[in-house]
Amino acid sequence: MKILIIGHKGQLGRTIMHTPTAHELVGIDLPEHDITDAADVIPTILALAPDAVINPAAFTNVDAAEADPDLAYRVNAHGAGNIARACHQLGVPLIQISTNEVFEGTAETPYDEWDQRKAESVYARSKLAGENAVRFYHDNVLIVRIAWLFAPGGANFPGKICAAADKHGTLRVVDDEFGNPTYAPDLVPALLALLDQQAPPGIYHIINAGSCSRYEFALEVLRQAGRGHIPVTPIPHTEWPRPSQPPLRALLANRAAAALGIQLRPWQEAVAEWAQRETT
Ligand SMILES: NC(=O)c1ccc[n+]([C@@H]2O[C@H](COP(=O)([O-])OP(=O)(O)OC[C@H]3O[C@@H](n4cnc5c(N)ncnc54)[C@H](OP(=O)(O)O)[C@@H]3O)[C@@H](O)[C@H]2O)c1
Repeated sequence: MKILIIGHKGQLGRTIMHTPTAHELVGIDLPEHDITDAADVIPTILALAPDAVINPAAFTNVDAAEADPDLAYRVNAHGAGNIARACHQLGVPLIQISTNEVFEGTAETPYDEWDQRKAESVYARSKLAGENAVRFYHDNVLIVRIAWLFAPGGANFPGKICAAADKHGTLRVVDDEFGNPTYAPDLVPALLALLDQQAPPGIYHIINAGSCSRYEFALEVLRQAGRGHIPVTPIPHTEWPRPSQPPLRALLANRAAAALGIQLRPWQEAVAEWAQRETT
């Protein structure tokens, strides 16, 4: 199968491109191709004639999105819609990567795939609009929601925690925001499995097993990355003001992919591999 990765230079895109697979992987990204430019990206996708498309491309700077909602919507909603239009013309499946932030994050228990969405931040609302846009233009769409993505070498929470620990020697980390770490090298085989199995269109939650607070995530990262001696003070999110407020408890339950036998290992095991790959 020829699989086209949109945004192949980003954290998840790069991880897909580096994954050993029998499939042919091709990618497009900025600055050569801009998904907001329908007149460029649709003919480009048609000319590449992939058998399937995975779209991790997005405006992902959650805080910056608050100051530029127009760009966030153009990329995350209209751009995603352009890709879906091309996939519809080709008649091929599209995996659209989405986020746990489409949920309000007030539920005690994890959200199921079919639960009511209520996005709060600009980024979250633009990603929710992206979910709607791809399904408006195309019927063979698999929306894969993930959370707290990390990969070796990427700009992500574990990397920032280690860098801050090395710089300051002590840390304050929010302990009342909860999520599901999602290790990109674990996620990619799951995405390919959805395509290999010709999984039905719909919504899938694919995250590493288990959940944690930012504080617990930081402690595990520091422990596994040889920095367990760094003192970490738990703080409420109100003491870490940001331009955008992420949902405090948008935990995801994997029901649809699990029914197909697709589940990721516990997040602590993924952190161990991440730390080992970062330090070798
Ligand atoms: N990171 C997380 O914690 C997280 C959590 C939940 C869901 N997600 C979702 O997971 C997906 C992948 O995240 P990631 O961390 O891999 O993101 P990333 O590293 O920011 O990669 C996104 C890629 O998309 C490209 N891009 C941005 N605007 C574009 C445009 N107009 N046309 C073409 N390409 C464009 C970016 O290029 P530039 O770098 O040049 O802008 C970048 O290469 C995203 O859909 C995100 O919403 C991420």
